[in-house]
Amino acid sequence: MTATDENTATTEEKPWHLSGNNAPVFDEVTLTDLEVKGAIPPELSGRYFRNGANPQTGFSDHWFSGDGMVHGIEVNNGKAQWYRNRYVRTPMHANPDKARMDLYLNPETLAFDHNVSTANTHVIGHAGKILALEEGSFPYELTQQIDTVGPHTYDGKLTTAMTAHPKVCAETGELLFFGYSSMPPYLVYHRATADGQLVQSTEITVNGPTMMHDFVVSRNYSIFMDLPMVFDMELAMSGGMPIRWSDDYPARMGVMPRAGSDADVQWFDVNPCYVFHTLNAHEVGDEVVITGCRIKELWRQSSDIGFDDGSGEDSAPMMWEWRLNRATGKVSERQIDDRGSEFPRVPDSLVGLKSRFGYTMGMAEPGDAGTVFKYDMDINGGTRTEHVFPVGHVPGEPSFVPAAGATNEDDGYLMTYVYAGDTDTSYLVMLDASNVAADPVAEIHLPRRVPTGFHGSWIAD
Ligand SMILES: [Fe+2]
Repeated sequence: MTATDENTATTEEKPWHLSGNNAPVFDEVTLTDLEVKGAIPPELSGRYFRNGANPQTGFSDHWFSGDGMVHGIEVNNGKAQWYRNRYVRTPMHANPDKARMDLYLNPETLAFDHNVSTANTHVIGHAGKILALEEGSFPYELTQQIDTVGPHTYDGKLTTAMTAHPKVCAETGELLFFGYSSMPPYLVYHRATADGQLVQSTEITVNGPTMMHDFVVSRNYSIFMDLPMVFDMELAMSGGMPIRWSDDYPARMGVMPRAGSDADVQWFDVNPCYVFHTLNAHEVGDEVVITGCRIKELWRQSSDIGFDDGSGEDSAPMMWEWRLNRATGKVSERQIDDRGSEFPRVPDSLVGLKSRFGYTMGMAEPGDAGTVFKYDMDINGGTRTEHVFPVGHVPGEPSFVPAAGATNEDDGYLMTYVYAGDTDTSYLVMLDASNVAADPVAEIHLPRRVPTGFHGSWIAD
C-alpha cells in the first residue's frame, strides 16, 4: 500500500468516526505550489490552522479521542505559500500503545498529569503564542510551522486542565477560560491578561462532574453551563467515553462577574439540554443574552452514535437563545432555527459583544450538499441564509476573517476546509461573509484530503 492509498478515505467496516473523511491520514507533509481558484484577498497575511483527532494507530474508541493533528495553510501577498499537517507531539503521541488513563492517572496519588493530552480540539492565538487545546489537559504551544514547543502552563501557575474553548475578550485582550474535571474541584475558572499572565484561578461550585465543553462571556460576565452530561465511573471502568446524560442533574447557567468569585455566581435554571458550542453573549440592561447550538438530549444510551441518543428523538443541534435576567432571576428561551447546525462562530472582534451575524456549519448526511449558514439576528429574531457547496463537498467550522477597511460587521471572509468526496481531496475555501450564497472568493486546493476535524483559527501576522 502506498502512502497515498493509506490516506484515502474508506468506509470498509470501520466505525463512522474512522470512516470516509473521518479516517486519519498518516503522513506529515509540506506542500507548496498549491492550486488556487479565484483570487486570495491580497490583504490577508497569516495562517489558517485547524485541529482534529487523527489517531496514529488508525484506531480510536471515540471521535473525540484520537491524536491531535493540525492542518495549516500560510497566506500572504495574495498567494498560498504552503500547506503543512503535523501531529502535536504529546505523551499520547509518544506512547501510541498506552491507554490514556495509564499515562494520565497516577494510581498511587490519584493525581492527573495534565501534560498528557491529545491536544486535538482547537488552535488559538493569544499573547503571541499559538496553542493547541484539548479540554482534559494543559495547552500545547506550537510554532507557526506547526512544530510542537511543549505544554504551556503559565509558568507553572496553571494546575488544572484548560478548556478547548477559551474566550479572548475583544476589548481587553484577556483570555478567559476554565478547567473541568471528573474529580473535585470539578470546575476552576481562570483569567489571563492580554500579555499572557495567569492572574486568577477560582474554584466554582457545580453540582457534580459535568462535562463542560464550552462557556461564553459578555462584556462584564463569564457564564458557565452546568448541564446534565456527567462523568460516570462505571462507563469509565469499561473504557470509552465516560460521560452520559442524567435526568437527575439540574441544568443551569451561572453568571459571574469576570473577576468575581464563587459566591458571586448567579445561577439560572434552564430547560435540560446540552450545548457543545455557544455562538456568543451580550448584555442588554439586566439581561445576559446567550446564543448557541442546543441539543435536546445527548448520550442517554451510548456516546458512540453522534448526536443521536438512540431514543429516536431528533437531537440535532439547533440555534437557540437564552435570556438570563439578573434582576428578576428569570430565564426566557427560544429556538432560532429548526435546521440543524454546529460549529458556531462570530468575528473575534465581537466576542462578548452584540454581534448581528453568526456563522455555522449546516448538519448534512453523507452524500448531501454541505452548507455554511449565516444568521442575521436582527431580522425576525434570526434569519438564515446559506452557502450550498456542490453535492458531496463537506465544509467544517467557518472562521470569520475581517476584510481590509471593513465598515460593516460582515465585511470579511469565512474560511474552512472543504472535503470534496468526488476527488477525495480537500480545499480551503474563502467565502464572502457579506454574501455567503455567492461563489467562493477563493479556493486553495490540496492534492490530498484534510480529515474532518474540530476547530480552527485564522491567526494573522
Ligand atoms: Fe468544541
